[in-house]
Amino acid sequence: MTTAALLEDPPVTRPLIHFSSARNWLNDPNGLIFHDGRYHLYFQYNPHGADHGFMSWGHASSADLVTWQEHPVALRYTDEHEIFSGSVVFDERDTSGLGIGGTAPLVAVFTLAARSGAHQSQGIASSTDGGLSWSMHSGNPVLDRGSADFRDPKVFRYSGPAGDYWVMVAVEAVQRKVVLYRSDDLRHWELLSEYGPRGTAFGVWECPDLFPLALDGDPDDARWVLIVSMNPGGVAGGSGTMYVVGSFDGVRFVPAAPAPEVEPGAKTPDDALAALDWIDHGRDCYAGVTFSGLGDEDRILIAWMSNWEYAGEMPTDAIEPQRGSMTLARRLSLVTERGRIRLRQEPIGPAVVPVAAIADVEVRPGEPLTFEAPPASRIRLRLRLDDGASAELRLGEAPALAAVLRVRDGELTLDRRVGAEGLPEAFGSLERLELRADGLDAVLWLDEGSIEVFADDGTAVLTDRIPARRSDRVELHAVGGRVRIDEVTVEAEEEDRA
Ligand code: FRU
Repeated sequence: MTTAALLEDPPVTRPLIHFSSARNWLNDPNGLIFHDGRYHLYFQYNPHGADHGFMSWGHASSADLVTWQEHPVALRYTDEHEIFSGSVVFDERDTSGLGIGGTAPLVAVFTLAARSGAHQSQGIASSTDGGLSWSMHSGNPVLDRGSADFRDPKVFRYSGPAGDYWVMVAVEAVQRKVVLYRSDDLRHWELLSEYGPRGTAFGVWECPDLFPLALDGDPDDARWVLIVSMNPGGVAGGSGTMYVVGSFDGVRFVPAAPAPEVEPGAKTPDDALAALDWIDHGRDCYAGVTFSGLGDEDRILIAWMSNWEYAGEMPTDAIEPQRGSMTLARRLSLVTERGRIRLRQEPIGPAVVPVAAIADVEVRPGEPLTFEAPPASRIRLRLRLDDGASAELRLGEAPALAAVLRVRDGELTLDRRVGAEGLPEAFGSLERLELRADGLDAVLWLDEGSIEVFADDGTAVLTDRIPARRSDRVELHAVGGRVRIDEVTVEAEEEDRA
């Protein structure tokens, strides 16, 4: 390829192995549920264009979390309300009475965001055809605190010493608080408790989730994980999602460790942010929530792969304008690592076959190793470094690099400034991920316009959109010393094995 061709305007990329709608704007995943053998993914969607507005719930479903089929809009905005984020549960015992002719309903619980004036309350809708068509409940809203920023209800069934009932976890976004409610019928809600603020003294809290996970695979030692998305206030700048491990007795969430100090009104210093636990250390993993309808041992999260700092300014194709996609689905577990409990994420990608495998090779400074990674591919990397050496993985072909990953001194950085020309100002950034040890042991999922890094067995994760890779070329450079390759395996879907 000539340099001129390499430097043309950045091509608009569409993901190959991540869900994105055929057209228009999307943001948060909503109503994730596994029901009747299919995974349903509803999502914040603008039926009229590629900007945030007229928010409705789009809908897609999948048998394997990899190949998605898009369906008609499920919940549409009205003259009065937009439909903001929320969740779906299967009301198997028809506690809501919204079932029809003996068919138990799926019930969606979402935020009714007033189109004039600032008012957010929670509404419900029901479906008896497996989630394709929905009827708005005539008694909406079902929960109204008279608040302007009360949103993002995630509902689950609690069954434990305190009883058996529905629990809603939502936020008072501006107060940076999680609010918990209970209900017997999904229509009448009673306040249980509140939690927060914690961590940052700025930004809003959004899209909470609360669920139990077995610690180190022991079902008798379940811990509760609270997820809160924060914007701004994310560890990498802009939108980000923290998690807190603790306990839930059916009323109150109690964190296992005290929160890092927060000075009211002050910007939280970087080290306080670093002291929190983050689902992801990249810039493009926000509003992630988990599926209902799966067993506790099968806790799967999907997040929006963007960041409010620039989501609305990302370039889009003029003919079929579209903005936004989801991360890969990730199976969650909890593991103890060096005395600390950590969330572990195992990505669920398409079936792949090896296209290149390199093992037991030494890379010296000035003698890079080059290989090809197809547009959608998985790269398994196990590297060891000489003292003082760093490894550099350059994606693309100079001078049109898309991003550079550097590993040095127990830290991975991802620099996407190198290819950010023509993209929004706030897009150019460098992200950091602390690693368990020197060297690298990671799985990378590459797609058109994104990278997801799962290091240290999925306990250190970084998701970033990256500028288009204009070439499949990847170069592995050793800088300041040798890099020992224990393994580089590139895998891609079978049809890409050319
Ligand atoms: C998070 C969010 C939610 C809200 C939705 C609106 O990204 O701001 O709090 O419900 O997006 O689209």
